[in-house]
Amino acid sequence: SPAGSSPFDAIPLVSSDLDHLRGNIMSLLGSGHPSLDSVAKYYFQAEGKHIRPLIVLLMSAATNGVSPIFAQGPHAGREERDLTGVDDPLSPKSVLNDYNPSMLSGADGNAAASSSTSTSSAILPTQRRLAEIAEMIHVASLLHDDVIDESSLRRGAPSSPSTFGNKLSILGGDFLLGRASVSLARLRDNEVVELLATVIANLVEGEVMQMKGVDASVLEGSGLASFWSGEKEQIAGGIDGAGPTPAHFTSYLQKTYLKTASLMAKSARAATILGGCGEGALQQWLALRSQSASPSREEDEALAARCGAVRDAAYGYGRNLGIAFQLVDDLLDFRSTSAAFGKPSLGADLRLGLATAPVLYAWQEFSGKEHGLGEMVERKFEGPGDVERALELVHESRGLERTAELARHHGEMALKCLEVVEEGEAKAALVRLVQGVLERVK
Ligand code: FPP
Ligand code: MG
Ligand code: MG
Repeated sequence: SPAGSSPFDAIPLVSSDLDHLRGNIMSLLGSGHPSLDSVAKYYFQAEGKHIRPLIVLLMSAATNGVSPIFAQGPHAGREERDLTGVDDPLSPKSVLNDYNPSMLSGADGNAAASSSTSTSSAILPTQRRLAEIAEMIHVASLLHDDVIDESSLRRGAPSSPSTFGNKLSILGGDFLLGRASVSLARLRDNEVVELLATVIANLVEGEVMQMKGVDASVLEGSGLASFWSGEKEQIAGGIDGAGPTPAHFTSYLQKTYLKTASLMAKSARAATILGGCGEGALQQWLALRSQSASPSREEDEALAARCGAVRDAAYGYGRNLGIAFQLVDDLLDFRSTSAAFGKPSLGADLRLGLATAPVLYAWQEFSGKEHGLGEMVERKFEGPGDVERALELVHESRGLERTAELARHHGEMALKCLEVVEEGEAKAALVRLVQGVLERVK
């Protein structure tokens, strides 16, 4: 492919699942209208990094088996894929819908600990479909993003707007969201539908926040300020000489969560829910347990707590990995040439008027000096020579280093979230994925 292979290729565990991903998505996207068909499928023709599907598949493999509903359900141990196309709707015989009291016989309430490696490495058809849905939502946002950013290049080829025009690109993105929603509904899990629908809203919120900025008061109490409260150089100014305010940083991180990390966080959480760790599945399980011969409240509470911890760990992993991913993306904007990156680069964000982490750090480092960064941020780098001057200043500063440092910090937090996940091949791959995100150069 023109963009080259994925920087995450070194993760073989789910490579056969990923091989099927694009084909399966294509089969979900067929339209009778050739123009719509072409634009909807366009970005799936080039090789993407597929980091969102990777997160979903690996998190599934790493956490399936925690819940007894997974371990003893009809899909337990099944590894072959049995969902092939849009005319083959997801089986309503979902693991969550048709377990029955007989599954309780022999249940010792300790299924999590006793589940074997082979059980925990199985990935459900519903989880594979979730991986496809996450990628479809992502690509829908790219179709819209390339219109908003007026971007000419994507995945090493002409962008959709430059190939099909703005109108078809927007409609193609909408079509993708529609088809993703159909697939989502077929998962038959309201908790998962809620999560992914919220992601779509978050993507739009993040984009608008990036476009319009945000009043600092909105961020108070968001919890994000604590990221920066340890900063020695807390400055209250905001105008050139004074350096950025804490609100510049918190707003940047909040926007980063909404536009990038929310999808990774919530689809990772959704993967554990489909694996039987959701509230709904647990409630049903506990109701059945209470009718069994020897109900044990302590065991049930331990199970509920463990499932809750796994859901939160998946969310926290995706959230921190996502923030690290975007920080590296923002850093590469100052380093990569478009040939390597597959999209317009070297100051592309500055040209869009965006002050990302490297700029905020440079501005902070040079506060009190005569450099003009504050004014450039204020006028969105629209003055003559602003972009070139800002590029220089960032490279003269420790901005890129400090951005990499912050990305590593989020990488470490992602790893910390994995502490509650059972050791094994899948967890090892999730650890390597953090490394891959921090080391990628495109
Ligand atoms: C890429 O960022 C874009 C996003 C991460 C999200 C964009 C979201 C929207 C356009 C809102 C609409 C959402 C949907 C679901 C239709 P970037 O421009 O920083 O990265 P790039 O360099 O890859 O273009
Ligand atoms: Mg863009
Ligand atoms: Mg954009």
